[in-house]
Amino acid sequence: MTSYTVYLAIHQFEHELMNELKLKGIKIADKKDRLFLVEGDHPPMIWAQTTGFRAQFADIESINDGSKKLKEHGRNWGLFTVDFHRRAQLIQDNLPKIKKKNIDFQEALPTLPMGFWTLWEQNKILFTPHTSSPFPLGEMDFNEDKVMPPSRAYLKLWEFFTVYAPNTPAQGVAIDVGSCPGGWTWVLRTMNFDKVISVDKAPIEKRISDLGKIEFRQESAFGLNPDEFPEIEWFCSDIICYPERLLNLVKRFMESGKVRNFVCTIKYQSQTDWENTLKFLEIPGSQIVHLHHNKHEVTWFYKGVSK
Ligand SMILES: C[S@@+](CC[C@H](N)C(=O)[O-])C[C@H]1O[C@@H](n2cnc3c(N)ncnc32)[C@H](O)[C@@H]1O
Repeated sequence: MTSYTVYLAIHQFEHELMNELKLKGIKIADKKDRLFLVEGDHPPMIWAQTTGFRAQFADIESINDGSKKLKEHGRNWGLFTVDFHRRAQLIQDNLPKIKKKNIDFQEALPTLPMGFWTLWEQNKILFTPHTSSPFPLGEMDFNEDKVMPPSRAYLKLWEFFTVYAPNTPAQGVAIDVGSCPGGWTWVLRTMNFDKVISVDKAPIEKRISDLGKIEFRQESAFGLNPDEFPEIEWFCSDIICYPERLLNLVKRFMESGKVRNFVCTIKYQSQTDWENTLKFLEIPGSQIVHLHHNKHEVTWFYKGVSK
């Protein structure tokens, strides 16, 4: 039986997923709405909010038959409808309910497998019990802090340290470049690093810089000399700049041997800069993801070995 990899493109970024598949030489077998179907086994894509592995088609005779077939394969199912919305919803209503729960910063992620399914044709389901995310359709939301963070950018770093770098020991020095108004600096400070060096051309909010253990430097990140810094545990960047400029800055700090881990937002203008995005990926051991809290930008990270 043919098995497929099914990608759910991020809302409004179908074009990016299409280009990514093309660039990676992966042929699209079929596409409906935001769903891209590819024959065989393939890894998750940057521009897919969830990836379904070893997906299969099955004919169904009725709504009950549809939910019965899904229940035979797993408990948790995220539904994305492309058509036959009411019929699909009736099938979903017969499946075990998944309580939508917001999570806390650094809370352990759900461990039960999360499935994906859709009604591809009126009497044909496409389904897989195995997806890349523990959340239905890869959508995760936090119990937000509406008081302290001065911008919503903090959610990106929350997501990163909850999903991609859980159990990060917050020891040593973290540097946050492009830090104003101070959301990421606040996150790093709450993680309790020994010191947070926060750099921006514009000042961060005083109530953040007043938290202590924060050294704010009002200057351009591109003029920083790695030799003037102590060992850095995490180099974090959310600077608005061309990807190429960020890449040069990252390489300079990497080559200095001073930095163990990196997490940086690569921001795009109207077009996705694939040329430089792929150059980031050439850095061995690094990864790029599109966080649920990223917009037209992606997150590049590199995790070194802890001492
Ligand atoms: C998206 S904001 C950062 C938001 C921040 N991460 C937060 O959580 O509040 C981007 C920042 O990049 C800064 N920036 C742009 N060019 C810069 C440069 N050459 N050096 C340092 N910061 C720069 C801007 O001043 C702006 O504050």
